Amino acid sequence: MRTGEIKNSSFVGKEVTIRGWVHRLRKQKENSFILLRDDRGGVIQCVLSTDKIAALTIESSIEITGTVSQDPRAPEGGFEIKGKELKIFNIAAEYPIGEYQSDELLLDKRHLALRTRKMIAIAKVRASVLHFGRQWFVENGWMEVTAPIIVKGAVEGGSTLFKLRYFDQDAYLSQSAQLYLEAMIFSLGPVWSLTPSFRAEKSRTVRHLAEFSHLEAEAPWVDLEDILRVEEKLVSYVVHSTIEERAEELEFLKRDISDLQKVEPPFERLPYSRAIDILRSRGFQISEDDGATKRSIEFGDDLSIESERELTREVEKPIFVVGYPIAVKPFYVKEDPQHHGIGLTADMLAPRGFGEITSGGQREDNIDSITKRMLKEGLNPEAYAWYLDLRRYGSVPHGGFGLGIERLVRWITNAEDIKDTVLFPRTRSRVEP
Ligand code: 4AD
Ligand code: MG
Repeated sequence: MRTGEIKNSSFVGKEVTIRGWVHRLRKQKENSFILLRDDRGGVIQCVLSTDKIAALTIESSIEITGTVSQDPRAPEGGFEIKGKELKIFNIAAEYPIGEYQSDELLLDKRHLALRTRKMIAIAKVRASVLHFGRQWFVENGWMEVTAPIIVKGAVEGGSTLFKLRYFDQDAYLSQSAQLYLEAMIFSLGPVWSLTPSFRAEKSRTVRHLAEFSHLEAEAPWVDLEDILRVEEKLVSYVVHSTIEERAEELEFLKRDISDLQKVEPPFERLPYSRAIDILRSRGFQISEDDGATKRSIEFGDDLSIESERELTREVEKPIFVVGYPIAVKPFYVKEDPQHHGIGLTADMLAPRGFGEITSGGQREDNIDSITKRMLKEGLNPEAYAWYLDLRRYGSVPHGGFGLGIERLVRWITNAEDIKDTVLFPRTRSRVEP
């Protein structure tokens, strides 16, 4: 049995058998108290006579048979098991994780830190986010596909590519499934995928990983506004379903969900040019390339982490920043025919400083324009021959977006660092465990 089933008044007085691990242990003269953790992360207090448990250590694996009783003093819900029998599977060696540990040690021992209640709570929220993200697409008639992870070309700029030796040629780890999804819409219609994406991010930030879970979608015959409507519906659905399913975990994480409860379409569309005006009016400064000097932000600058934080500091719902200059966006972004130099593209920024969680928009569908853009970015169009074929054979207006699962989980759980939102984080300095 599991603690979730047992902590229920109908079990009081009944005998149960439960398996798990010694999460906490308080040995006293006659009786000892074990906080047992089951394999779903739930805990219950078990009382056993001290002579029975003498050998036990933290994280030993055990099975206890005993009678359920209700006692308001029992932690975690007021139920406990008066243990009669104890079976020991393994006596754990001295456990390296104590109550207060440095973040670094917890990362080094992540294979064990997954057993902490904080990690269990976040993992459950993450599972719900993945589940409801998938569910939204399935229920709305989008087809699930997968794209290759080993690829030949950059999607999001060459500077964050991971190179690998692929037999006798060079290849890369995929930064985004987008180009492949674009190929699929001609025969499969609206498609989505959930695949790992890789970025050799050199800087250390609380929102970049070298490997992340990327939820991406692409559809034919859509424009920017159609894509934004998909994004806001998807995110609202995931947020609401997750806070309902994981109310207990979010409470454990001390996440006040009152702002999340308000998340529903429509999200504000903030034109990029307005965003720059707002930042300028607040005297916002950005660092020059040398890092030492600062200057006012200007039209044409990309939005940095700090500028996104400033724009979303006070808002409770996500916002879209729409119409970035194409110069700061990749080659595939379609230029707005009404506004020279402006892209039909938008980023969704999560509230309270969390910043970008999606990027998407309309794709350039004209072969000459996209070839010119590639050349301007220093890309060799020949390396994208198959992709350019998509503009050669029945090109259609189309668009899509990518959502970073860890960014979304970070916002929902209010996690300080994106590393907390993934079970085994990969960063520049960490490929283990
Ligand atoms: O903004 P990005 O780079 O856009 C794309 O890759 C598009 N090709 C997606 C598409 O249109 N199909 O990445 C999309 C999202 C970001 O908004 C962010 O949430 C997440 O992926 N992301 C990262 N998450 C964690 N660590 C990183 N290094 C990330 N880079 C991007
Ligand atoms: Mg982006």
